[in-house]
Amino acid sequence: MAANLDHIGRASLKELGDIRIDDVLSFIDRGIENMPSYMDLYRRWESQQWAVADLDFTLDREDWLKATELERKSTLWSHRLFFNGEERVTSTLAPFVWAAPTPEIEIFLSTQMVDEARHTVFFQRWWHEVVGTEAKDLGTLLAEIRPQANEGYNTLFYDRLPSAAQRLASNPKDIDAFIEGVTIYHIIVEATIALTGQRFELESMRELGSTDRGFYQGFTAVARDESRHVSFGIKVLQEAVREDAGRFAPLIQKTLVDCLPLVTGTLDPPDPRYITEFGHTESEILQFAFESLNKRLRAIGINLAA
Ligand SMILES: [Fe+2]
Ligand SMILES: [Fe+2]
Repeated sequence: MAANLDHIGRASLKELGDIRIDDVLSFIDRGIENMPSYMDLYRRWESQQWAVADLDFTLDREDWLKATELERKSTLWSHRLFFNGEERVTSTLAPFVWAAPTPEIEIFLSTQMVDEARHTVFFQRWWHEVVGTEAKDLGTLLAEIRPQANEGYNTLFYDRLPSAAQRLASNPKDIDAFIEGVTIYHIIVEATIALTGQRFELESMRELGSTDRGFYQGFTAVARDESRHVSFGIKVLQEAVREDAGRFAPLIQKTLVDCLPLVTGTLDPPDPRYITEFGHTESEILQFAFESLNKRLRAIGINLAA
């Protein structure tokens, strides 16, 4: 069935339960052919509002109580990475807003900050109502769920991303730092890692017939937000390469080459059954991640081999 993209664009949370993640992601590809302006992306944000408070996790809680040990471990592994990751990207975006080279970019990035805060609150509510926790506040809960992640995840979220934000905070006029930061934030973290993880988890839920769950609807809304963020990142880098390929293309390529091993590390589960038990393989997930990345790079106008 051909996706009705305008319908997806305006779908409410309940209607998002009828929508496939691949159709949501096709927004990015449509944008690649006909790039929206920054203000178009702002208007899309206005029309795609949703509230964590409107979700109902009753069925999700029932599923949780019936879940096997392996299902719980696998879900917790993935959701720890996402929850902590959403908080990390919320906390590091402000310097990007300050360093925005134009007012249109500044306005779009301000909408993205609100989105990332909402995604963090989405996982906070899921944790309280589905898993259950004694944590009294968000800081305590984040300390409790912090992933015992591998090196790749730690380097990306606790070194590369905050360092990029720190460089921008120290010198908001540093355009090289802005381009490197957008490459790490929007292309590596969001386009390559987050959307890949979301795609496979939502597809697994669809295969199980769980599209009426609060988590499915909320996470699809998160993916729709992320598709706007990724479109923004592609546009920034595409414009930079068009403006001065000799300066910006090697900078983007070097950043990508440095970060690629971190992508593989982040998507690598501590137990392969966290993926194989749900009908997928690790190599299928990595292949999807790198194909998505290549598509984005073609749109930006660079390749990794150059
Ligand atoms: Fe997010
Ligand atoms: Fe995002």
